[in-house]
Amino acid sequence: MTEKFDVVIIGAGAAGLMCAAEAGKRGRKVLVVDHAKKPGRKILISGGGRCNFTNYDVAANNYVCRNPHFVKSALSQYTQWDFIAMVAKHGIAFEEREHGQLFCEESAKDIVSMLLAECDLPTVQQRYQADVHSIEQTESGFQLQINTDTVTCESLVVATGGLSMPKLGATPFGYQIAEQFGLKRVPTTAGLVPFTLHTADKDALSDLSGIAIPVVMEAENGTTFKENLLFTHRGLSGPVVLQISSYWTPGQAVTIDLLPDLDLAETLNAMRDKHPNQSVKNSLSRLLPKRLIEALMARGDVEDRPLKQLNPKDITAMATYFHQWRIAPNGTEGYRTAEVTLGGVDTDELSSKTLEAKKVKGLYFAGEVMDVSGWLGGYNFQWAWSSGFVVGQHA
Ligand code: FDA
Repeated sequence: MTEKFDVVIIGAGAAGLMCAAEAGKRGRKVLVVDHAKKPGRKILISGGGRCNFTNYDVAANNYVCRNPHFVKSALSQYTQWDFIAMVAKHGIAFEEREHGQLFCEESAKDIVSMLLAECDLPTVQQRYQADVHSIEQTESGFQLQINTDTVTCESLVVATGGLSMPKLGATPFGYQIAEQFGLKRVPTTAGLVPFTLHTADKDALSDLSGIAIPVVMEAENGTTFKENLLFTHRGLSGPVVLQISSYWTPGQAVTIDLLPDLDLAETLNAMRDKHPNQSVKNSLSRLLPKRLIEALMARGDVEDRPLKQLNPKDITAMATYFHQWRIAPNGTEGYRTAEVTLGGVDTDELSSKTLEAKKVKGLYFAGEVMDVSGWLGGYNFQWAWSSGFVVGQHA
């Protein structure tokens, strides 16, 4: 027996559930399927279990996409204020953290429960542990083989997410569907991900594991972020690294201002005038963690001597070193720990207004599966909500 739906959505994550609720509210008969046992697994673990569900300040420049204008339409059709209103309507308490990031006060579970409540409509069915074996285009839409069932639909929505965290059910299925229908893909890599280091740097810095300092980090394309840098036993992490990783390509270096809030040359001059016999090590250890200074000295980058021995050229060189500390990562930790996938279905293939494939009527994409990745800070969920909403209005 063939079951007929208006809309089939593959993927019951953030974008898929939002889309299901919206299409269902329009009276469309919707089936949302997921190969996982439960919906929204990434939502549940996000934001340390509190889900950073959006940000007070959302703009196109918070996203990495080959076409920087692509996100504008969807983000304006469904804004952060729309999502905040939904959260408030469901009585979910939330809090603002730095940089306008909004988190649940209690649990990310509240967001999943809210989306499921929004999907609780006679028009919406959900099926889990559902494997899509085949998809064929028909005259009136699509025919799918899902487990042992044959299902037809007018509109097919691909909301299968990216490749990060395969343990949570991530698969390349969305890209395979795009390929089946002749849609191009922007090469994918891990984004919002810690850096690993070359052996020499790793050996010199791994003892610093656990140290966090505020820095400004700059990628070779000039993009900068001011956030905390965290040394780990594997390499470099912390929000600044996750952010910059989306703008880094293998082989490139990053430049780090280890003392972004002061002028080191001026400070050293003042220290030298006041305490000429104080050592460079003790002086710098007042500004940065002592273990970091020791590690940089141990590998010969900084020489210890009394401040009075520093001439103006030495001071300039030292200031340049700390304000422009360069390090070339060996790579990233990859999809295993990445929060997002950079690249994906090429947005040139999609209408930015409806997210329908330009050359395949009825085929829509929502969420991270396409070449749209947000900064750390709730931007990725906002993209999932906005794109899911938009597709829900058209599919
Ligand atoms: P999502 O990954 O949510 O959903 C895709 C769904 O498709 C999954 O349910 C999956 O099982 C299903 N699927 C995949 N392949 C399938 C197949 N072959 N057949 C059937 N179903 C299939 N963002 C943010 O804004 N704030 C935050 O706090 C965080 N925190 C965070 C923490 C961690 C650890 C990670 C890994 C990621 C985040 N993110 C985040 C990113 C955010 O989770 C992500 O961008 C969104 O979940 C993307 O939503 P989607 O619906 O596109 O994919």
